[in-house]
Amino acid sequence: MRISVIGCGYLGAVHAASMAKLGHDVVGIDVDPKKIDDLSVGHAPFFEPGLPGLLQASLDSGRLKFSTSMADAAGAEVHFICVGTPQRKGEYAADLRYVDAAFAGVAPYLNSGDMVIGKSTVPVGTASRLADEYMESAPEAILAWNPEFLREGHAVKDTLHPDRFVYGVPDGAAGERATAALDEVYAVSLSEGTPRLVMDYATAELVKTAANSFLATKISFINAMAELCEAAGADVTLLADAIGLDDRIGRKFLNAGIGFGGGCLPKDIRAFMARAGELGADQALTFLREVDAINMRRRSRTVELTRQLCGGFLIGKRITVLGAAFKPNSDDVRDSPALSIAAQLQLQGAEVTVTDPEAIENARRRFPDLHFEHNTEAALAGAHVVLLLTEWKEYRDMDPASIASLVDDRRILDGRNALSAQRWKAEGWQYKGVGRP
Ligand code: UGA
Repeated sequence: MRISVIGCGYLGAVHAASMAKLGHDVVGIDVDPKKIDDLSVGHAPFFEPGLPGLLQASLDSGRLKFSTSMADAAGAEVHFICVGTPQRKGEYAADLRYVDAAFAGVAPYLNSGDMVIGKSTVPVGTASRLADEYMESAPEAILAWNPEFLREGHAVKDTLHPDRFVYGVPDGAAGERATAALDEVYAVSLSEGTPRLVMDYATAELVKTAANSFLATKISFINAMAELCEAAGADVTLLADAIGLDDRIGRKFLNAGIGFGGGCLPKDIRAFMARAGELGADQALTFLREVDAINMRRRSRTVELTRQLCGGFLIGKRITVLGAAFKPNSDDVRDSPALSIAAQLQLQGAEVTVTDPEAIENARRRFPDLHFEHNTEAALAGAHVVLLLTEWKEYRDMDPASIASLVDDRRILDGRNALSAQRWKAEGWQYKGVGRP
């Protein structure tokens, strides 16, 4: 099929390259000329394992190109909208200006029978509003909402082999045509047995926000248990292992630590609360306020634990922060708990050095006053306390014996419970985990 992908960020760039890999003819469109220049020569503008290879293979096949001109969307039968929906400044609600701009931009190029498929995460009710506002100029074109569930760091696999497809479609014949078109787009993945669920717009929109809210709730639940474990002298990792064996609960997303961040979970739960308020259903989601509060408390708690490890005073202490990205295998620092903790420690007088395998440049742009160091050994040199805040494999595999000579004091705060306490203690380290005695 001929496909346009509008918006080439974390979602759109991977989607465009993946659709070409599935055999479609794809044009990726973005307003950022630098991004388009990079993508056109096979450079991924962000770190995502597997994306450079996929991008190059798709470009080499001749089925993928990129453009800054919306006019190049003309002629595509399916237009995917993959632009961002960030949090509005000073509010909880989502900022839909990029979604609206994408619809306004593509509308003049729609032909009769074209499909416009929204993938961005939007407040419930958005698809039907967009259908009313922008689809009238092309009465035969059809809008569907097909939310995306990819995780950064696993985006290629999640796009090519998702665990489910959700199609939000209009009633009647238009819905049947949209379903048939999406089935054709995803024919390869569907032939692998991937479940697909067809529903109305509102339910499809809600599926996405409900899924992210559930994940956020799961993480905050275990972090609340970590608070209790700390108060009671219990171990939250053993608790998670034990409750996780009940397959109604499951062990995934039960890792206590410094909490969730990134460009999705934090802003999605807030936008969900804002939308519920508009719908007069705010009571249904007041628990998400607590989910958010527990999550933010992890950051201040980590600062406090660090202060304790420093003997009560942060001023003048040299602190090395391992990890700046909001999670491993990503260079994304949006709302990164690691960076927020590093910045708070510095504001309270510590001398903070931050290192990360991939995210330093992005981190430096957000926090230019922090000190960054690419080389892990140099970052560790002279540290009074080491903080593991993003569990990259190279930090998880770090040898406590060989780095002992680099630091001034053998003290480590494992903000992700990713290390073996026993092993570090055996090498003479004062080890502190999260929610562990
Ligand atoms: C999340 C969802 O997992 C995806 O399904 C969804 O498509 C995506 O948002 C989106 O809306 O676009 P992502 O933001 O890539 O994906 O990150 P996650 O893997 O969900 O991790 C989010 C945060 O939770 C990270 O900071 C991670 O460190 C933290 N986390 C995760 C924990 O603190 N504990 C856990 O047990 C798991």
